[in-house]
Amino acid sequence: MTLSRPITQAAGALRDKFREVRATSLALAAPLSAEDQCIQSMPDASPTKWHLAHTTWFFETVLLQPHAKGYQPFDPRFHYLFNSYYEALGPRHPRPHRGLLTRPSVDEVHAYRRHVDEAVIGLLEEEGERGEGGLDWAAIEPIVTLGLNHEQQHQELLLTDILHALSCNPLLPAYKPASGPALRLAAVPPAVRWLSRPGGLVEVGHAGADFSFDNETPRHQALVQPYAIADRLVNCGDYAQFIADGGYQRAELWLSDGWAAVQANGWRHPAYWLAPDDPRLGFGLQPQQHHQQQHASPQGAAAGWHVFGLNGVRPMEADAPVAQLSFYEAAAYAEWAGARLPTEFEWEAACDAPGIAQMTGHVWQWTRSSYDPYPGFRPMPGIAAEYNGKFMVGQLVLRGGSVATPAGHTRPSYRNFFPPAARWQFSGLRLAKDL
Ligand SMILES: [Fe+2]
Repeated sequence: MTLSRPITQAAGALRDKFREVRATSLALAAPLSAEDQCIQSMPDASPTKWHLAHTTWFFETVLLQPHAKGYQPFDPRFHYLFNSYYEALGPRHPRPHRGLLTRPSVDEVHAYRRHVDEAVIGLLEEEGERGEGGLDWAAIEPIVTLGLNHEQQHQELLLTDILHALSCNPLLPAYKPASGPALRLAAVPPAVRWLSRPGGLVEVGHAGADFSFDNETPRHQALVQPYAIADRLVNCGDYAQFIADGGYQRAELWLSDGWAAVQANGWRHPAYWLAPDDPRLGFGLQPQQHHQQQHASPQGAAAGWHVFGLNGVRPMEADAPVAQLSFYEAAAYAEWAGARLPTEFEWEAACDAPGIAQMTGHVWQWTRSSYDPYPGFRPMPGIAAEYNGKFMVGQLVLRGGSVATPAGHTRPSYRNFFPPAARWQFSGLRLAKDL
């Protein structure tokens, strides 16, 4: 095929977007060795190689097999290997065993990606040549768009999952050593300003023709009471004070399940923090960081902590948003601070509040809202019906998007969700309180 086929603007734009998103996934995996890409550090996290293959499987299964005439699967066995959770598509390799797939190799997974990429681009160009009269465009366009948004979700998981795997290695290797200034979470202003918000009915959820996931719809009215919301995220310096004040030793601050998790797991700080006496500190720092460490002079409760992130181990930055918190820790911090977590409706209604900052692109923000269907919720049609709705029990909603979220992927109505004990995401919090 050539790049100059006369296809419609819409098909051309979607083809370009497809190429860009697919290339980004490979770029995210590029700093990792084949050994890195095979490992599964816990059942919740998947190997890099699996993410690269599963996102490919999604296009093959949902788009190509039903819509590309004469499409030949790259390897029919991959249907079993790389189905994630789609019961309607039959049995699959057990999730906790994804790290046992030393075969197919990374190179074979790359070949699988190329095979599917060529077929998807061929399909888009074929449909695009037909123009407005294209037979299947109305069916294909939403599937490709869903597949790209699905792949972007896995791009974030690829990063958070490999970060967890690397955090399990006592050498604390960097995903990507910092060259020049470290990738860091942006600084937050020192003092919290409380923004008062009125009570009443607020409009929440997605409306309009742009893409959204089904869990953001339908747009509807929700009732909120008058409340105040913090203009910024809770930062590491704030959280260090909670720790120094015995936050992890004071049962009265914790939900019952949270306190049980603290006891069972020995939690004493966020997942990737290293206490000043952590023996791994001698392994994980880059040589130049040893030098910097001697000259760093962090103040008060923040002194001596280090944080493991995508750039490896770094001295903790008090003004960076705190991340890698479970819902339980976020709720305990809020209790300690004399506040609470916002509901997801309060959060969404505050997106356009004058003076509010750090709503997106820093850390996912735990809310006090259960992940439930909106009134009138209907799952996406077809195979994608299993995408969101069946997970609407036992999880909490997070809003905003993190540093690991692909740019432009989220919206004010975007709903992420995790179980309350999950702490391997870039998850933090913003405070709210009643008025
Ligand atoms: Fe998936």
